[in-house]
Amino acid sequence: MDKKRIVTGDRPTGKLHIGHYFGSLANRVKLQNEYETFILIADVQALTDNFNNPKKVRDNVREVVIDYLSCGIDPNKTTIYIQSMIPETAELTVFFSNLVTIARLERNPTVKTEIAQKKDLFGESVTYGFLGYPVNQAADITILGGKLVPAGEDQEPLIEQCREIVRKFNNIYGNVLDEPEIMLSNGKRIKGLDGNAKMGKSLGNAIYISDSEEEIKRKVMKAVTDPNRIRKDDLGNPDICMVSYYFKLFTENEEYDKICKECRGGKRGCVTCKKQLANTISEFLKPMREKRKYYELHPEIVDEIIQKGTLHAQNEARITMKKIKKAMKLDYFSESD
Ligand code: TRP
Repeated sequence: MDKKRIVTGDRPTGKLHIGHYFGSLANRVKLQNEYETFILIADVQALTDNFNNPKKVRDNVREVVIDYLSCGIDPNKTTIYIQSMIPETAELTVFFSNLVTIARLERNPTVKTEIAQKKDLFGESVTYGFLGYPVNQAADITILGGKLVPAGEDQEPLIEQCREIVRKFNNIYGNVLDEPEIMLSNGKRIKGLDGNAKMGKSLGNAIYISDSEEEIKRKVMKAVTDPNRIRKDDLGNPDICMVSYYFKLFTENEEYDKICKECRGGKRGCVTCKKQLANTISEFLKPMREKRKYYELHPEIVDEIIQKGTLHAQNEARITMKKIKKAMKLDYFSESD
């Protein structure tokens, strides 16, 4: 039986951090064994809110791919490709744009939230490109015949919108496209070192997969702990401590329970605790850091992986586009005429 096809991706706007790792990357590493996986580097989508900063997008394409490879995404199992290199996606976006109303796009909760957060960039009136990125994303998925989209909750409204477009397309032009389903990643959302619900570059509270031992240590030393604990023998409360929160992610239950017990009993200081955590995270990321070094030294290998993946995706997209054009009566000068 053919493996089901997965299409997913990321915007190349920064290096990936451990929030990405636990939220989606670890899951993708597992899924690549069971599914035919395509991961796109969404440079076109990244430009919708970084159109004035093309260098940032360009520079992060290779960074994100190196992060994937370091985490265990295997290019022999997963096709990694660049969104802008698939011209059929842009074509399909135009065809799809007839099947979506402005009002429907404005109601998309994810897009609505993002527009509100980007007042600095968009002012009172959002661009056509940004408002329409869900249409472009629908094209990303369907041009490759994606059946499953592993993603976080924030992507749910986008996939729902994609399904609506596909249904409308199939109703009008015939049953050509697959309706994809979201596969909610069972990964958890990781808080920042400062306790903020979101981990991010702008917040300065993230540990990156590429961080050195020293960077990890420096960041962990600043993590927010129980504010009532001043001296080592003060009784601590691990429930309100980010160091304990991170220990839970990186250590076995037994070790975690021991740490909490010592903290509650005033038997372990925050500095000791932080040093131990920094070491633990550092050890966890070590194999990834080493793999990363290798790829940083061999950019030609990374480029070859991207090129090969892109070629494969291009071929698949071409096949789908042929069917789409036939269904839409746009198949001029083809042999069947
Ligand atoms: N919107 C996704 C994000 O912000 C990126 C993305 C672009 C994507 N195209 C996609 C995800 C197709 C899944 C499928 O992370």
